[in-house]
Amino acid sequence: TSDLPVYSLEEVTKHCSLDTGVWVTYKGGVYDITEFVAIHPGGDKILLAAGGALEPYWALYAVHQQDHVLEILSEYKIGVL
Ligand code: HEM
Repeated sequence: TSDLPVYSLEEVTKHCSLDTGVWVTYKGGVYDITEFVAIHPGGDKILLAAGGALEPYWALYAVHQQDHVLEILSEYKIGVL
């Protein structure tokens, strides 16, 4: 079980820019990656996923299929869907 709050998809979609904060989802988790955007090795492309799911983009950019990438993501978890 998780003590993290539950968020709706609608709430996630509101966080789609650096002004509103950048939230993404991955496998049922919700992540606030606002602070990570500036240090992302792939640059501003990360903003394409802002307010939505990472899965379609990570399917395209297979560089993310590594344990160390999931470890980074886990640091930014704020809730669940
Ligand atoms: C590379 C993390 C989202 C595009 C990387 C790398 C990390 C990373 C750690 C370097 C991997 C390595 O070389 O071992 C993340 C995290 C994301 C995220 C934590 C979400 C929270 C995205 C999205 C896109 C993207 C949504 C595209 C729409 C890329 C590209 C690279 C990359 C193109 C390769 C950069 C290069 O080597 O020149 N990402 N990424 N990333 N990422 Fe992401």
